[in-house]
Amino acid sequence: MPVSVSIPEPVNIPEPVSIPERKKTFYMESYGCAMNFADSEIVASILQEEGLVATRSYEDADLVLVNTCSIREKAEQTVRQRLSLFRLAKKKRPGMLIGVLGCMAERLKERLLEEEKLVDIVVGPDAYRSLPGLIEEAETGQKAVNVLLSREETYADISPVRLDGNGVTAFVSIMRGCNNMCSFCVVPFTRGRERSRDAASIVRECSDLFRSGYREVTLLGQNVDSYYWMDEKADKAVNFANLLEQVALIDPMLRVRFSTSHPKDITDEVLYTIARHENICKYIHLPVQSGSSRILQLMNRTYTREWYLARVARIMDILPGCGLSADVIAGFCSETEEEHLETLSLMEIARYDMSYMFFYSERPGTLAARRYPDDVPEDVKKRRLEEIVRLQNRLSRESNQRDLGKTFRVLIEGDSKKSAADWMGRSSQNKVMVFPKDGSAAKKGDYVWVRAEECTTATLIGRIVG
Ligand code: SAH
Ligand code: SF4
Ligand code: F3S
Repeated sequence: MPVSVSIPEPVNIPEPVSIPERKKTFYMESYGCAMNFADSEIVASILQEEGLVATRSYEDADLVLVNTCSIREKAEQTVRQRLSLFRLAKKKRPGMLIGVLGCMAERLKERLLEEEKLVDIVVGPDAYRSLPGLIEEAETGQKAVNVLLSREETYADISPVRLDGNGVTAFVSIMRGCNNMCSFCVVPFTRGRERSRDAASIVRECSDLFRSGYREVTLLGQNVDSYYWMDEKADKAVNFANLLEQVALIDPMLRVRFSTSHPKDITDEVLYTIARHENICKYIHLPVQSGSSRILQLMNRTYTREWYLARVARIMDILPGCGLSADVIAGFCSETEEEHLETLSLMEIARYDMSYMFFYSERPGTLAARRYPDDVPEDVKKRRLEEIVRLQNRLSRESNQRDLGKTFRVLIEGDSKKSAADWMGRSSQNKVMVFPKDGSAAKKGDYVWVRAEECTTATLIGRIVG
């Protein structure tokens, strides 16, 4: 009997596929100073090394990180508000981990875990190398904390991942911490002792940036003038003026900026170095805080009104036309009306192009919080701040008006905020300039000569002339 054999129809059996493991994602927000943003780029680099991928939406991230600032109470409130939003997202996706980094983590330590119940990880500014371990720990359901401060950590060997950049300008950290103990300031407590980063690693990072198309670096530290590195190989010490020069010599097309200078430490050597190199920007951010010598002493700033004004005169002497800006605090402990007026009169004399202005916010644990009552009423602080802001607006407008008709070399950073038909860039003096593209061949990262024709308080509006 014939046996019927059924021959199966050929079917396409798919090749066995390996389902790629979904990469873990992280989302990060940063608050506070430029140094904190630079730190976020270090953190991103550490996480990417671990195979995590950055995402722009916190809702579907596996890890949500907030790099925080403690400088004023309001800065901390902003972070708390963000945390409550992340808490809601975590309720929807319980696997999500939330980490607090930076100065608030350092200031509040474990307390942050009690106060913000859904926070899983707390990491201080010197402990970012331990993040991968802390994440693993948190994944097992434990709370993970490392807020140890270090005397050596500078993350010198980690090359930062540039986040949200324009590809033209970048921040480069040259030192960490602060030894100054200004009585109002929380930074020495949150960032620890001052330490400088290896000069060779700074120059290398800046050269790499230049090679990948960047045209401006801003060297960052709380007090850049006290930068000091012993170059053992050359048996030579490198101070800030030497470092500036080394970075300036990378290429004349690489602009160099720096922040922040302390009035007690900025040397003539630094000013002469700036004068010698066309590519070191003629702009100095020189926080004054107050125009009253008595208040400056209470603030432990270690200079007087006269000393500060003598430094400004020296800057203008060695660097004519140099851009100048400041930080100003209104209503510090026991500040009288006359002392406030001294701040206003100092601002008039210094003729700042721009200022960052704040009213005093008492920070727990600082010298001022322990020694002096925060006794200027809130409404008085706010009124004094308004007067300072109003004066600065006038000074900025006048400074811009003095620039009308002058021509500046501008580095193009990208499209202007308002219109893709205009470029936005900065002059050496750090003035924002906006000008029509006008079909010129110039592109992002190019230098162009721009003549200032009109202005607002914050911007010079001009035209390309070469
Ligand atoms: N290292 C820089 C400034 C760092 S903090 C320097 O020494 O100048 C940035 C600015 O925040 C300070 O210059 C100061 O103006 C302001 N600031 C710091 N602590 C403050 C406080 N407790 N209240 C109000 N403003 C403060
Ligand atoms: Fe704070 Fe003073 Fe150090 Fe600046 S120099 S970070 S204001 S302590
Ligand atoms: Fe804020 Fe810390 Fe910078 S307190 S200003 S983020 S050093």
